[in-house]
Amino acid sequence: MQVMQHYDMFRDYLKESCGIVLGDSKQYLVTSRISRIMQDNQIGDLQQLVNNLRRNIRSPLKEQIIDAMTTNETSWMRDIHPYEILRKRVLPELMDNSFGQARIWCAACSSGQEPFSISMVIEEFKQANMGALKRPIEILGTDLSKTMLNLCEKAEYDSLAIVRGLSEERKNKFFSHNGNGVWKIKNEVKSRVRFKHFNLLDNFALLGKFDLVFCRNVLIYFSSEQKSDILRRIHASLKPGGYLFLGASESLNDTQHLFEMVHCSPGIIYRAK
Ligand SMILES: C[S@@+](CC[C@H](N)C(=O)[O-])C[C@H]1O[C@@H](n2cnc3c(N)ncnc32)[C@H](O)[C@@H]1O
Repeated sequence: MQVMQHYDMFRDYLKESCGIVLGDSKQYLVTSRISRIMQDNQIGDLQQLVNNLRRNIRSPLKEQIIDAMTTNETSWMRDIHPYEILRKRVLPELMDNSFGQARIWCAACSSGQEPFSISMVIEEFKQANMGALKRPIEILGTDLSKTMLNLCEKAEYDSLAIVRGLSEERKNKFFSHNGNGVWKIKNEVKSRVRFKHFNLLDNFALLGKFDLVFCRNVLIYFSSEQKSDILRRIHASLKPGGYLFLGASESLNDTQHLFEMVHCSPGIIYRAK
């Protein structure tokens, strides 16, 4: 197919600009995800597309392509164990150990379910242990996709998105329903979450230091070198003894020496050495 000429050029561009690695035989994926955008922009092949993207680094076309090529799959309380570990082990420790504001980074927050789930667990912890939330907690949600971040800021979910992983009890407690099938997060959950556009390939220094980093279900898309580089930089952005939460199928790659594995049966988290 005409559109798929220069596939390698497109692959290189995607890897350089957002870390996503496409396999040798993913032409079908590219065709299904971007040929419509190319048609709409009267772009005939991938060489023309890549030249256009490289020339106009801030063009809306770049956003469209990134949105089309990223996988934004997410759900409330995804995999449940990380949230149980947060509730039972990490939050009590976080409240006992230091002073000042505690900071949590959700490093690829998609449409917001992960940071808002964390905030719900914090809210429940606060309500169940009066006075135990001794430090204010800020959650920073970042993502590469501006479309996803707009959804996060809106904090509204339709009846399909709302049911994925969320109990009836939490839905009724933490959302208001406008009657048109739209559920809006209540302020007690939303107010401790802030969102920012951020590419994991960029420098983390300006984000500051964190007590916890959730970097879940995103490293799977990167090359082994990029994964290790991101893990090393996450380690540097964690406060001493801070915890990293990875996705269920993700591992430390060659950065095991930087973290201690904490087995929480079920579930594993990684403590910065
Ligand atoms: C599969 S979702 C995971 C969402 C959430 N962490 C979870 O586990 O449910 C992956 C997210 O990573 C984001 N992403 C992909 N490449 C990225 C990059 N280079 N920098 C920041 N975010 C990226 C995508 O936009 C997408 O929203």
